Amino acid sequence: MTKTILRALAGETLPTPPIWMMRQAGRYLPEYRATRAEAGDFLSLCYNSELAAEVTLQPIRRYGFDAAILFADILLLPQALGADLWFVTGEGPRLSTITSQADFDTLGRGEMIHDTLNPVYETVRILRRELPPETTLIGFAGAPWTVATYMIAGRGTPDQGPAHALKAENRPLFEALIDRLTESTVDYLSEQVKAGAEVVKIFDSWAGSMQGDEFDRYVTEPARIITQEMKARFPGLPVIAFPRQAGDKYIGFHAATGADCVAIDDSVTPEWAAEHVQTGGCVQGNLASLHMVTGGRALVDETRRVVQAFSKGPHIFNLGHGITPDADPENVQLMIDTVRGM
Ligand code: CP3
Repeated sequence: MTKTILRALAGETLPTPPIWMMRQAGRYLPEYRATRAEAGDFLSLCYNSELAAEVTLQPIRRYGFDAAILFADILLLPQALGADLWFVTGEGPRLSTITSQADFDTLGRGEMIHDTLNPVYETVRILRRELPPETTLIGFAGAPWTVATYMIAGRGTPDQGPAHALKAENRPLFEALIDRLTESTVDYLSEQVKAGAEVVKIFDSWAGSMQGDEFDRYVTEPARIITQEMKARFPGLPVIAFPRQAGDKYIGFHAATGADCVAIDDSVTPEWAAEHVQTGGCVQGNLASLHMVTGGRALVDETRRVVQAFSKGPHIFNLGHGITPDADPENVQLMIDTVRGM
């Protein structure tokens, strides 16, 4: 019996969509907060293989999701390449910045990343031993553009301004960074797969701030290279791409990259995505995360709407973006019961 997530990724239309949730291991869960306190801070948790595996398993035990996603962060790769990384409580990530050729020259490449990332691969090995046989393990990395926005600015930015500015002022340097990240992402994901990840997902959270040809060059093209290279190394490996807020650029994204599944955020309706994106292959999404905070009738109605809209093709139920710390764990249960009870 093949796992439901793998069946959907292979293009099968299932009577009930398999379900998991972005950021399902996170601060909305009291057991996550307790383990995180035990680890110290967020990065210590990411690099503590036993505890990172523990928080990955918590939402599986509580809810029986069909997939677990490795607990780590997209910014571990820049750290492994040599950037300084730390998290400021209540504010988010901080990194040493890459704005000149001299900064870029401090970055490493190739096998050296594994010195830092080995604990992540160990988390994957523990998970493959401990997950229930029906649960699929998803590995992930950030997409080059999204990771570059943090490396260039040294932090999260509302409009990715510093990264767009570097692209305009020093395009060769910007492109060298995108290329370095593309190459290292393949190395990073390859080790996750060797350790036991069954699917990989590429998070391009800031895809929506690229337009026109630049979207094609810096969002679609790196996703295509990573997908093709991973499939060449690991024949049959399913890939999920998440070009968040891509809008019209969601159309044709499966074909342009070779991804088996495209994750859809909640800025488009499920009816639109079913008509224009699901025709290309499996889709994942796209319930608004806010329903996990507000709950009630609207949660039930919108959950049913998403399931209904995507019911004629392969679909993995998920949120349009990560669940937020203020979400109510009971609303997550209500969402799952609604999906599985339809
Ligand atoms: O989905 C999952 O649960 C898997 C693990 C995962 C995390 N981050 C754990 C995490 C994944 C896939 C990510 C991806 C990630 N990290 C993205 C892309 C996806 C997205 O959400 O758009 C980005 C942009 C980051 C960088 C990052 N990490 C930010 C901006 C923050 C927020 C800081 C904050 O305080 O909210 C993080 C921290 C982070 N990554 C948390 C978790 C569970 C919260 C950390 C905590 O416990 O305080």
